[in-house]
Amino acid sequence: KPIFVLNGPNLNLLGTRRPEVYGRTTLADVERSVREHAERLGLGIEFMQSNHEGALVDEIQRAREEAAGIVINPAAYTHTSVALHDALEAAELPVVEVHLSNVHRREEFRHRSFVSPQAEVVIAGAGPQGYLMALDYLARR
Ligand code: DQA
Repeated sequence: KPIFVLNGPNLNLLGTRRPEVYGRTTLADVERSVREHAERLGLGIEFMQSNHEGALVDEIQRAREEAAGIVINPAAYTHTSVALHDALEAAELPVVEVHLSNVHRREEFRHRSFVSPQAEVVIAGAGPQGYLMALDYLARR
């Protein structure tokens, strides 16, 4: 079964949105390096991004049936979404939460995560490399 790599709202703007915080790498670049790395590790992946909370819930519910694990950057929903928390809980899969930026160095409202209690591992501040680290973890787990 593949690893689902899920990305939340505004991450489609990666590369142009606040490059001083998130860098110049685009989501297409991230997807490419994630695919290459997954191939090296012998993992299958399914990559998706949505700006809609319900679409992410639907994808997590699909993962529950079809995935071996989840890598998720829930973006702003990290800090607000009980629905993502509950969907990840129901999935009963290994979850790695990834943030490009170190959310703990930033505004207070980014310090709380509704997703972290459902994550085995949390990676923040490594930039796009964080996704590759997440795959490394799942491959060796
Ligand atoms: C983010 C951090 C969140 O606080 C923010 O809302 C994002 C991106 C990150 O990858 O650093 O959209 O998840």
